[in-house]
Amino acid sequence: MTAADPATARRLRQAMAETITESGDPWRLAFAEVPRHLFVPTFWKQNDKRTWEPINAGAPGYLEEIYSDQALTTQLDGGEPTSSTSQPSVMLTMLNTLDIHDGQRVLEIGTGTGYNAALLCHRLGDRHLATIDVDPELTGLAEARLNQSGYRPAVYTGDGAAGVPQRASFDRIIATCRLSSVPRAWLEQAADGAVIVVPIGWGLARLTVHGQHAEGSFQAGGVQFMPRRPAPAAAGTADPMFGELSTATPSNTELPVANVLDRLGFPLSLALGGYSSCTWTSDATGELEAIGIWTPDGSVARAESDGTVRQAGPRQLWRTAEEVHALFGDAPPNRDDFGLTVTADSQCVWFKTPDGPHWRLPDENSLPT
Ligand SMILES: C[S@@+](CC[C@H](N)C(=O)[O-])C[C@H]1O[C@@H](n2cnc3c(N)ncnc32)[C@H](O)[C@@H]1O
Repeated sequence: MTAADPATARRLRQAMAETITESGDPWRLAFAEVPRHLFVPTFWKQNDKRTWEPINAGAPGYLEEIYSDQALTTQLDGGEPTSSTSQPSVMLTMLNTLDIHDGQRVLEIGTGTGYNAALLCHRLGDRHLATIDVDPELTGLAEARLNQSGYRPAVYTGDGAAGVPQRASFDRIIATCRLSSVPRAWLEQAADGAVIVVPIGWGLARLTVHGQHAEGSFQAGGVQFMPRRPAPAAAGTADPMFGELSTATPSNTELPVANVLDRLGFPLSLALGGYSSCTWTSDATGELEAIGIWTPDGSVARAESDGTVRQAGPRQLWRTAEEVHALFGDAPPNRDDFGLTVTADSQCVWFKTPDGPHWRLPDENSLPT
């Protein structure tokens, strides 16, 4: 069997569509008809030694992997995945959450392979879709593959946080990369009543826009998307200023340090919006010595495994971790108990009600663009 075996591809594709959708799902036909393999001629898979290996069209099992319900890595940079085609059932959830109607104008942030754009074109017609990715290599390949498959949406290269003003306004905006908050440009380019579906932290938020105000909630299921990348000209990693901590007054924490970011995963991804982290381990024993956290506003914290904590910058990041732990313990709260309110001045995530425990999200516009 080769990737060019259209009958096998069609059979596997239809089986996948029937597996991931319920009967009557408005996206079943698109998943059954759009040829995912044409958008993913090669993907990368880690072997037992965690080394990435390419799987090319024609390799044994290639079509079976393409038409299984899994995310496939399609681009690596220094061994780190920078683009993928998402898990089809997650794509389906996002598309259904978007609640698209005929004739609506849609903006997709994160073109990637172009497969999701093709599904949207199949459902809406290509005149209604604009899609943007920060990586020119990806948009070039995606546009060519979309055209070969008979779809001609408007494909743009640039930072999706700025939206696509020349095509505004949009009735629906869907992001397939993770953001720390909702970029203001999207609100400006959204039609009244528009719906935005966007991964924020480790959750999927659905907001409805009215003017410069948007409000919504997080969906029940978890999602793990790769983060928004800055445009190449501004690329560069935030430099955590751990040096500043040498003059910080140490305090003690009762919160066990090991795996704290995993244990409190979802709520911390909101409360410490846009955070990065690292660990220090002993050369001799390999045991954890400390973890470090920093956020885009220049706040930084280091917690030793013996409970000593040092913090610096505008926010006391470890104190936020302690507050989140005091609220939820190690038991993860329900994601759909969280909501999100966006105004022209601020963005807040909240638990249960806007007046309940809440955390301000960093301004995505102040991150590198
Ligand atoms: C999970 S992949 C997208 C999958 C894609 N929708 C598909 O169907 O193949 C995430 C994509 O977001 C893109 N991305 C990251 N930062 C971005 C940004 N600032 N603006 C637009 N796209 C961005 C990445 O280049 C990557 O292709």
